Amino acid sequence: MKKLYMLLGISAVLCSCTSVDKGVNSTDYVKYNEFNVGKVLLDNNGRMVNAHGAGFIYDNGRYYMFGEHKLGGSLGNKALVGVHCYSSDDLYNWRDEGIALKMSQDPNSPIIVGTILERPKVVYNKKTKKYVMLMHLEERFGDTKKSTKVEDIYKEKANYSAAKIAFAVADKITGPYKFLRSTRINAKKLPVNDAGKLIAVKNQLDNCYYGWDKNYIHSSYQEKIKGHAFWFCYDKGQMSRDMTVFVDDDDKAYVFTSSECNATLHIHELTDDYLDFTGKFVRVLRNQHHEAPAVFKKDGKYFMFSSHCTGWAPNAGRLSVSDSILGEWKEIYNPCRGDGQKKNRTYPDAKADTTFRSQSTYVIKVQGMKDAFIYVGDRWLPDDAIDGRYIFLPVEWENNLPIIKWYDKWDLSIFNKNK
Ligand code: GAL
Repeated sequence: MKKLYMLLGISAVLCSCTSVDKGVNSTDYVKYNEFNVGKVLLDNNGRMVNAHGAGFIYDNGRYYMFGEHKLGGSLGNKALVGVHCYSSDDLYNWRDEGIALKMSQDPNSPIIVGTILERPKVVYNKKTKKYVMLMHLEERFGDTKKSTKVEDIYKEKANYSAAKIAFAVADKITGPYKFLRSTRINAKKLPVNDAGKLIAVKNQLDNCYYGWDKNYIHSSYQEKIKGHAFWFCYDKGQMSRDMTVFVDDDDKAYVFTSSECNATLHIHELTDDYLDFTGKFVRVLRNQHHEAPAVFKKDGKYFMFSSHCTGWAPNAGRLSVSDSILGEWKEIYNPCRGDGQKKNRTYPDAKADTTFRSQSTYVIKVQGMKDAFIYVGDRWLPDDAIDGRYIFLPVEWENNLPIIKWYDKWDLSIFNKNK
């Protein structure tokens, strides 16, 4: 008996030595079979999934997640690495697919390291067979704007005034994506719904020193023309910050974007190759300050989760609906329900009035399940950006409208139970 114990002891020591020599096989170690909401999400290498403000796409049997690769500290709010891609066949376990779009060391590149690049979204174009990445892109300003030194980038004040959208393209879903251009949207075009109203404003503004294409109009003019679109940038093109892309059943794609200094949401139709705008667009939810749009469709109706504008700080979520994509959108309510997440050792309560301390980024349509959608939000941590967490929660339904409840843990079988 004693001998047997000794043998077992020796083999145990040998085994542990061997595993140490080989290293831990983290692919086996990190195996999730449910969502652990708001907890660190590890990839197949045991590293934190680093894809914030993410967009998702299902392609050839796998889900792909594209998001902002963040660094530690507040420096992480600027893009120093690029857009990180992960893939999964079950939505719980994510394989690192590398950096799909790399920030550039070229001082003249629009994606020079340190530029603010947010909320990347990838769509597949069936006609061209290309993957198109759209994202919010800013510009660096000041004396150091062409410097690639981290200490210069760190000192630069984050500047969101360029308010542009950018395009990149790839033949393979995981990239590498080739950066094409960044732009304001639909310069010298009028929206299909508000053209008359805007022409009226233009006539008033033509008499003023501040033209209607100026980004910021003097406050006295705000008084004069209250209720109109002060920040409608006709000449320069429309501002675009928080954005998403939605591909409809007929393969037409639309950019939803916070425009006019985030006051009014615009929906712009993309050309057939998804690389440009057709010129057709609408202004919706005027002067309601929607950010973080995440759009999905069920039974012919369009739904959008979004947020109020409070920067990195979370606020109450919003649900808006419309019967047609370029139609009149109507805000319904805060879709979040219930007590939310109880406070724990590290974090305070996360209640419905802060979207469970998250901000929407995407709604995933679960494949092979009817009417199964997942709300994905970011729990931002601007002082230590890399540690921002992901909130995945099931979209549930009440009176044919979507609601979101908190679950510490859940799995996809919830969609069968709710039937
Ligand atoms: C948020 C926005 C984020 C980021 C942040 C900067 O409102 O949703 O994507 O732009 O502001 O403060």
